[in-house]
Amino acid sequence: MLRQRRGREARIRDLNLYHEDRLAALGTMAAGIAHELNQPLNTIRVVTDGFLFGRAEGWPLDPEELFEGLEMISRQVARMDKVIRNVRNFAREERDPGEGHVVANEAIENVFSMIGRQIEAHGIRVEKDLDPELPPLRASLNELEQVVMNLIVNARQALDDCSRDPKTLRVRTGSRDGAVFIEVSDNAVGIPDHLQGTIFDPFFTTKAVGKGTGLGLSISQSIVSKFGGRIEACNNESGGATFVVTAPAGGDRP
Ligand SMILES: Nc1ncnc2c1ncn2[C@@H]1O[C@H](COP(=O)(O)OP(=O)(O)O)[C@@H](O)[C@H]1O
Ligand SMILES: [Mg+2]
Repeated sequence: MLRQRRGREARIRDLNLYHEDRLAALGTMAAGIAHELNQPLNTIRVVTDGFLFGRAEGWPLDPEELFEGLEMISRQVARMDKVIRNVRNFAREERDPGEGHVVANEAIENVFSMIGRQIEAHGIRVEKDLDPELPPLRASLNELEQVVMNLIVNARQALDDCSRDPKTLRVRTGSRDGAVFIEVSDNAVGIPDHLQGTIFDPFFTTKAVGKGTGLGLSISQSIVSKFGGRIEACNNESGGATFVVTAPAGGDRP
């Protein structure tokens, strides 16, 4: 079993599939990023159009109002800047050379800054229950984001394909017995019993070409095992699947 896993990890490394998986994730994120930028852009347009309209109508300019408008624009620009920075970090080809201390909540927030609105636009309710006292992991932020992104996109895709009402995606973090856990669950249809042993295999996918590469879970498993952790999947009693990432707090390697 262990040998089989090592073989799988070596294969992933050899084929340099980490970046392939990242690019595939970026593809599925593209619409989400557009969504994320659209709202601040709209706000900026409304504010500037308001001033331009006032000028065309010959209205007097109220400096207070002007500065309020500029502040609003500045906030929206900062928000877009953050989204773009997160996307660029995510897309970086070189892997993080060093591992640092990373609080998993940050990886989760970064991922939601890129695709949160898109998930909501798909009619999915997001419940976040992040432990504010979460101890750090010895991991790379960039790679942890890749793992979280894969689990969240999988949950979103599973929810897209089901007719559940309401559709819920739940992300929870916490720690117990010196380990940090990140739990991503959905209330879609879950993993069929006969696929339970297969979903972590590289290139295994039940999705159409263009929607899935079958790399997400195997790459994520391989990343998490570098941090001394693992990913497990199970079905919820009330329907849907839960994926749990567990890794040692503080990053003590096993
Ligand atoms: N949340 C989920 N609910 C049900 N099935 C899932 C879920 N996440 C993953 N799966 C199953 O595991 C398979 C492999 O996932 P993954 O490795 O991410 O590849 P991909 O998403 O490209 O298919 C999926 O095709 C799907 O059948
Ligand atoms: Mg996937």
